[in-house]
Order: sequence, then structure tokens, then C-alpha cells
Amino acid sequence: MGFEVATIRSYEEQSDRAQVEDLERRCGVGPADERLFLLTDTMGDPICRIRNSPTYKMLVAMLDKELVGVIQGSIKVVTVERPPPKDLARVGYILGLRVAPLHRQKGIGSSLVRRLEEWFVANDVDYAYMATDKDNVASVELFVNKFGYIKFRTPAILVNPVHNQPFRISSNVAIEKLKIEEAEFLYRRFMASVEFFPHDIDHVLKNKLTMGTWVAYPRGECFGSNGQVPSSWAMLSVWNSGELFKLRLGKAPLSCLIYTKSSSLMDKFFPCFKLPFLPDFFHPFGFYFMYGVHREGPMSGKLVRTLCKFVHNMATKCKDCKVIVTEVAGNDTLRHHIPHWKLLSCLEDLWCMKAMKFEEKNSLHELTKSPPARLFVDPREV
Ligand SMILES: CC(C)(COP(=O)(O)OP(=O)(O)OC[C@H]1O[C@@H](n2cnc3c(N)ncnc32)[C@H](O)[C@@H]1OP(=O)(O)O)[C@@H](O)C(=O)NCCC(=O)NCCS
Repeated sequence: MGFEVATIRSYEEQSDRAQVEDLERRCGVGPADERLFLLTDTMGDPICRIRNSPTYKMLVAMLDKELVGVIQGSIKVVTVERPPPKDLARVGYILGLRVAPLHRQKGIGSSLVRRLEEWFVANDVDYAYMATDKDNVASVELFVNKFGYIKFRTPAILVNPVHNQPFRISSNVAIEKLKIEEAEFLYRRFMASVEFFPHDIDHVLKNKLTMGTWVAYPRGECFGSNGQVPSSWAMLSVWNSGELFKLRLGKAPLSCLIYTKSSSLMDKFFPCFKLPFLPDFFHPFGFYFMYGVHREGPMSGKLVRTLCKFVHNMATKCKDCKVIVTEVAGNDTLRHHIPHWKLLSCLEDLWCMKAMKFEEKNSLHELTKSPPARLFVDPREV
């Protein structure tokens, strides 16, 4: 393949917006065997996915006047599993790498990654990381084999469809919405040591996309003003990703296709059966992302399930929210308590990481040796 020298520069909203949106429409992300392609519709704001991060950058690749590639990056401070005082790190997240199909395998993707890494270095980043489908050969080859990223974690993305019937919530469980300061207090107290916990959790909670934080606990117990917590409790926050961008399925597994179609038919012709309506994923839809899911105590699995039902019931009132998504560490037992469809979920999202500073190379190898049981997935990176 010939090598095309593209010019890499920062994204300019006025002149580049339409071309980036067009590129996004043409580039499905998914494994090479075309089982499933998720397309993103950024609704006129291609930079929306990183806009909520403290520091961000979007680069474009130009060949003459044609925009042929794009990449986005954001920087923040998070918890890493190292002994204090080195338990905080500046991490750079890479997302949204796309190269126009006609210009692939000509070095453009590499040029974009290289330039974004330079921006990370200039901004004192300790580690860069990215997430991809483990079957996306082009992406894995590029990051792992060419740029030396290390396979770091394999969290599970759990996806549950929203039915049109609300679930019944047990009357033995109390559910309460927290004030932002209360939520921040609980997160800093109970989750600050969890890997990738964002140091600026207050900004995440105050963001208008956070719909709220809820706790569930056995009715009759309470959270005391002296910091006392119930014998069992669970907590989670909800981020309305559908306000930022929409998703659409480009091509689905046959089984999913058949089930969606036949179920819609059933819903139309046999409403008396009260079959749950399964969403049509082929038209743009929004989703809720549940983050900061935490539980404590012997009954907490049931409380997590109740909170998930509560979020589901909230979603039934939102016109275009068709799925509820969350992401947990690969070996986190939480996944047994979060309702999800295996068919729609990705049980091995691959996170790859690279040390941006020479002195962090050994520490990264140490980090990869012991995958933690828990992971905080920032909704700003979904
Ligand atoms: C992934 C993607 C950005 C690569 O862009 P690109 O411009 O083709 O990448 P490059 O030409 O710089 O290739 C760099 C390396 O990637 C690997 N690579 C790229 N495409 C590949 C393919 N189809 N199969 C195997 N390896 C591939 C090779 O190792 C290559 O190194 P080499 O040139 O020394 O052989 C592009 O395929 C794409 O836009 N895919 C769809 C969107 C997507 O999946 N993005 C990744 C999300 S994380």
C-alpha cells in the first residue's frame, strides 16, 4: 500500500463539523467480521463525547481539502493501584479514531495517534489508554503491535433493553435520591481507592448529564448524620448519554434481528399477551449509563437489582432511551446483580495502556499483573 502524507491539525468547529459527521456516518466501529456495527450520531456536535472532560483535544487528518481521519483525546487525574503517594496518575484517554475507508492502511491512523500522544506528553500525562473490541483486528494491531500499548483490563459492558412496562419495586426497599454533596461524600469515602476513580468526581456529579445519584437500603434503616450506613446498601448514578449522541445498529446478529422484528409484530397484533416491546435498534436511540455502582453488606446484591429496576422504570418515561448500559471490571461479582442481555453486551471490552513517561514503564507492568476486582468507568468516556 502507498503511503499518504496527510496534514494533522486541530479540529475547527466551523469548517470541519460537517465533514467529521459525514466520516462518522461512514465508519462503523466493530469487529472485522461485520457481526455488529454500532454507528454514532453526534447530532451536529462531533466533539460532544469529550467536551465534558477537564482537558480535551480533537485532531483531524486532511488530504488536500478532504477530511480523511479524526481522533479525540481527554486528560484527567484518576486513582491507580499503587502505594501512596503514587496512587494518583494523569491519564490520557484516546477515543473516536476513524479513518475514511478509502484511505485506510496508508499510515493516517498512525499519524493521528502519534500526534495525540505528543499532546499527552506535552500535558504531563503518565499513561495513555484506549478501549476497543478485542476482535477489532485493525485497532488492536495498531495500538498493541505498532504503538506498544499493553493489554491492560477486560471489563464487561452490560446492556439491558428498556421494555415499555415498568418493573415492580419491592416495598421492603427504600430508594432515596442524594444531594450532589452527599453523593460526592459517599463516593470519596467508599470508592476513592477504586481503579480509575476520577479525582474530579464533583464535576461529573454536577454535570447536567448526571440525572442523579440514588441509594437503596432495607426499609426501616437509615444513613445516620454521623456517617453511619445501613447494614446493607447500594448506590449508583445515572448519566443521560442520549442527550449527547445517539446510537444505531448498522448490522446485527441474525438472531437479534429476528427477535426484534417478530417481537414488534407480536406487540402490534397480540397486545393482550403483554410481551415486552423490544426496541428497534436500527433507528437512532439514546441510552442511560449507570456509573459509580457500589454495594456493601449481605443484602446488597438484591439492592443493586432493585436500583437497576428503578433506573429502568425511569427510562420507560424517556422517549428515545432504549437501552441501559453499565461497565464493570471483568472479575467484579457486581455483574451477577446487574440485569443485562448477553446478546447485546460485550463481556470483554479490551482496555490497552501505555506509559508516556520512561519512569512509569515498570509501574505499568506491575499494574497489569494484578487486575483489581473493581473499576470506575467514567461516564464522560462512554
Ligand atoms: C483502526 C483504523 C483507525 C486504522 O487506521 P489506518 O489509517 O488504516 O491505520 P494505519 O495505516 O496507520 O495502520 C497502522 C497499523 O495498524 C494495523 N492495521 C491497520 N489496518 C489493519 C487491518 N485492516 N488489519 C490488520 N492490521 C491493520 C497495522 O499494524 C498497521 O501497521 P503497518 O502499516 O506497519 O502494517 C481504521 O481501520 C478505522 O478507521 N477503523 C474503523 C474505526 C475503528 O474501528 N476505530 C478504532 C476504534 S478504537
